[in-house]
Amino acid sequence: MNTNIYTPIQTEVISIEIESAIEWTFRIKWEGTKPSPGQFFQLSIPLIGEAPISVSGIGENFIEMTIRNVGRVTESVFRLKPGDKIYLRGPYGNKFPIEKFHDRHLIIAAGGSGVAPVRGLINSIETNPEKVKQLTLLFGFRKPSAIIFKNDIERWSKSFPTLITVDEAEAGWNGKTGVIPQHLKELSITDKSVCDIIIVGPPAMMRFTALAYLELGFKTEQIWLSFERHMSCGVGKCGHCKIDNVYVCLDGPIFNYEKARHLVD
Ligand SMILES: Cc1cc2nc3c(=O)[nH]c(=O)nc-3n(C[C@H](O)[C@H](O)[C@H](O)COP(=O)(O)OP(=O)(O)OC[C@H]3O[C@@H](n4cnc5c(N)ncnc54)[C@H](O)[C@@H]3O)c2cc1C
Ligand code: FES
Repeated sequence: MNTNIYTPIQTEVISIEIESAIEWTFRIKWEGTKPSPGQFFQLSIPLIGEAPISVSGIGENFIEMTIRNVGRVTESVFRLKPGDKIYLRGPYGNKFPIEKFHDRHLIIAAGGSGVAPVRGLINSIETNPEKVKQLTLLFGFRKPSAIIFKNDIERWSKSFPTLITVDEAEAGWNGKTGVIPQHLKELSITDKSVCDIIIVGPPAMMRFTALAYLELGFKTEQIWLSFERHMSCGVGKCGHCKIDNVYVCLDGPIFNYEKARHLVD
């Protein structure tokens, strides 16, 4: 039996869904340890390299990853077709602490490809609504054509209050414009003390959204963030992701703001 923690497992692409010009969802065969929403895998292509990628969907014998085409590894993944080989090791990292949100009003604010890590969490609450007392969704995208998971968002919006905003409108867009922090006051919140807020997205979006919530009177302990740091091993050995005493790969990627305010860029 192979016990080397760095050895990836060969598997294959089942199908590919085009979400936007640069973000595609890959359904990948996976019969190993079932991941939880919030966790990630190290995905690799031989002779090219490895990249940490969050799980955006979890099913029987498959996982989904929504990948933004930005560099060496992701570019190679975008050349794959269904049936092609791909390599994974994981799942790694912690998960969203869903058990803490029981009897709480959970607000999820996600920007751009930051919707990917929370998609599995929202789907699991959709299937088991008793996991939280209430769920409110807040999504921000650069422009209407950059909206990903359109079918999911349309479906979620039938079950949960959902606000979508874009930085800049395009022809035909009749929805909201502006960044997420500009719209926080539009959400119906009856009792701030029962809320928890998950914020996932680009560093500036996370920073300003967290600050806006703090200005509204929420406490640092009520805010949860998911971080994307440069990683190498993914298992707490190499120190690539280490900031002070925190290993983002092991202790995160999900942190309470109280514990991780110094990690916010
Ligand atoms: C826990 C975690 C979860 C993640 N989840 C996802 C996910 O679900 N989906 C997703 O798409 N991504 C995710 N990421 C981010 C992803 O791992 C990175 O984008 C990764 O670097 C992509 O690898 P790559 O080889 O394709 O890109 P790279 O070649 O590493 O390039 C990444 C970025 O760095 C820039 N860059 C590359 N080389 C240089 C250089 N020499 N100088 C300056 N800039 C450079 C590129 O322009 C690009 O913007 C996650 C990261 C973490 C840590
Ligand atoms: S990536 Fe190696 S210690 Fe975190």
